[in-house]
Amino acid sequence: MTAQLIDGNALAKKIRAEVSGRTEALKARGVQPALAVIMVGDDPASEVYTRHKVNDSTETGLAATLERYPADMTEAALLARIRTLNADAAVHGILVQLPIPKHMDTAKVIETISPAKDVDGFHIASAGALMVGQPGFWPCTPYGCMKMLESIGYELRGKNAVVIGRSNIVGKPMAMMLLAKDATVTICHSRTRDLKAFTLQADLVVAAVGKRNVLTADMVKPGAVVIDVGMNRNDEGKLCGDVDFSGVKEVAGWITPVPGGVGPMTRAMLLVNTLEAAERASSPR
Ligand code: GUN
Repeated sequence: MTAQLIDGNALAKKIRAEVSGRTEALKARGVQPALAVIMVGDDPASEVYTRHKVNDSTETGLAATLERYPADMTEAALLARIRTLNADAAVHGILVQLPIPKHMDTAKVIETISPAKDVDGFHIASAGALMVGQPGFWPCTPYGCMKMLESIGYELRGKNAVVIGRSNIVGKPMAMMLLAKDATVTICHSRTRDLKAFTLQADLVVAAVGKRNVLTADMVKPGAVVIDVGMNRNDEGKLCGDVDFSGVKEVAGWITPVPGGVGPMTRAMLLVNTLEAAERASSPR
């Protein structure tokens, strides 16, 4: 192996410790940062994710509640609940776990969350703020990727960065964050012709497609930084990313593993956003 590993578990632990410290400081001023997590229906993956979010929060000193509603909840009832939470000064972050049942309009639900409490960074106002470089909330996964790059002291200015994937919650915001750091950014996707021609030019590749082996060793420039956002299962049922880790680690300069890479960072950045929401609410500019 030639690549150095970027250890997401270790970095997330450090970030959680920082969040704990800042949370203590807020509490000393009488502010208890609080996150409300809403889950509608009983999607098994969402059960796990929401439990993690609540446990991570409470372990860090944040207050967190999980509100569970049946799959047949009406959209009007969900919107009403969000509006009540928007108006509740004791709640700083609101997160509606996705997916929500099909009879609900996801965009409408997200847009009902107050941008000041949008700790997922999914609101159109958060996306707009990121686009124009205004303060807002950044989506947790690309934000975590940026923290990983920062942790290795990676200078993005003038670098060629290739983002594979164009989702609203990872690919597009990732590209904006890299651009804001003066990287030359290319977004590749399922319709890109000759993906390899792009990735071979890249000093940094972020793979965020949700498909195994999207990036293989022959597609990577020697010494490049490779960030793997993927969460897939291999033939043996083991967790794996979008990157062919065993091959690419022989070529890359830095690489994130799966598991233990971006995943724990996504979780940590939700805590950062929630704390940040509480800090902003308690000392308005
Ligand atoms: N479903 C899968 N990932 C996420 C996430 O980060 N936030 C929300 N709200 N739902 C999700």
